[in-house]
Amino acid sequence: MRQGDREIILGVGGGIAAYKSCDLLRRLLDRGYKVTVVPTPSSLNFVGKATWEALSGRSVTTEVFENVQEVRHISLAKNSDYIIIAPATADLIARLAMGRADDLLTNVFLASESPKMLVPAMHPQMWSNEATRANVEILRSRGVLVMEPVVGALTSGDVGQGRFPETTSIITEFENFTHPSLDFAGKKVLVTAGGTREPIDPVRFIGNNSSGKQGFSIAQGALNRGAEVTLIAANSSLPDIPGVRMIRVSTAAEVHHHVLAEFPQCDLLVMSAAIADARPLHLTDSKIKKGDLKTIELTENKDILKDVALIKARQIIIAFAAETSHDVHQAQEKLISKGADILYLNDVSQGDIFNSETTYGEIFIKGGSSHKVAKTTKDTLGEELLNQALVQLG
Ligand code: CTP
Repeated sequence: MRQGDREIILGVGGGIAAYKSCDLLRRLLDRGYKVTVVPTPSSLNFVGKATWEALSGRSVTTEVFENVQEVRHISLAKNSDYIIIAPATADLIARLAMGRADDLLTNVFLASESPKMLVPAMHPQMWSNEATRANVEILRSRGVLVMEPVVGALTSGDVGQGRFPETTSIITEFENFTHPSLDFAGKKVLVTAGGTREPIDPVRFIGNNSSGKQGFSIAQGALNRGAEVTLIAANSSLPDIPGVRMIRVSTAAEVHHHVLAEFPQCDLLVMSAAIADARPLHLTDSKIKKGDLKTIELTENKDILKDVALIKARQIIIAFAAETSHDVHQAQEKLISKGADILYLNDVSQGDIFNSETTYGEIFIKGGSSHKVAKTTKDTLGEELLNQALVQLG
């Protein structure tokens, strides 16, 4: 696939992986992209201007005060279709998250409305540092695609998550992000997301920690791939997705009602919502006073997937299991007992999955196969689950 006249800004941060970006630049040019390289001043310690100019065939500047008459930061921002920053160092990520504009690259990043992708590479301890984690979350929440670095040996001799990914996987992620294939065209996808709330009285409820991020990400991914998507969102604070039919609900009973009504028309059901297994038996009209709040009698909610299984025809079902251990046997049993075709097991005991942009776990497929998912973005897991579903949908 050639990408015609698509213009990319390739930003280069000041890390040793800068030399690997030379290969990325070559492969982007091979694929027909037009690329302007904007290195940070510190990155020139690793790869000089002359190399970038020779490889890209274009002039290269690093500061806003060079060629001022061109107002280069604005013209570059306006004339580019995408920005890729590779490698993105911890310092550069922090500056981007803060919205700073202290060199040409950060100016262009701020001034551009184009899709943006970062390819971080750094020492594992810098990557896992809370400050970097928070900066990455900020950028992801603003729609920037931030790749996960690869686990392996680093220049320092240490081993961990921090390596620059292979050029081919950068280009695959970039093209999935910018030109998703329409392989779900004509398919109807029903997704549930968020966590249900079962009222105890007018001010209290039984709820859970699900943010809805995984389900919203799958709904967006399916939409990007051409599907007609309905999203049943339980108490999620995430905004509506333009182009997706949104059904906002609160309780397990409401999710049950809408799923059963929508299921016969859909091709794929993704049950990522965390459904309360039980609800208070008696709902009072007035607030229960603390003296009376000793015990709450519960009654079981209907199992939505088990009811769906009774009317299942050609549809494919993806179930989720958020557990506090990684029990493969239990996951396989749940896959079967729930009538699902695919089940994603994640161990939430470390507290780093709920409300986070990343996940890790294992995908189980009906028939016995399974494969582990190393820490990745919820968007990437969503793509992987959609790929698996597509295989089964034929
Ligand atoms: N689910 C459902 N109806 C329910 C509860 C859960 O359809 N009443 C769905 C969830 O959306 C999820 C899958 O079933 O896709 C597994 O949810 P989980 O809570 O792990 O399963 P439970 O059957 O509730 O089992 P457990 O005893 O482990 O809570």
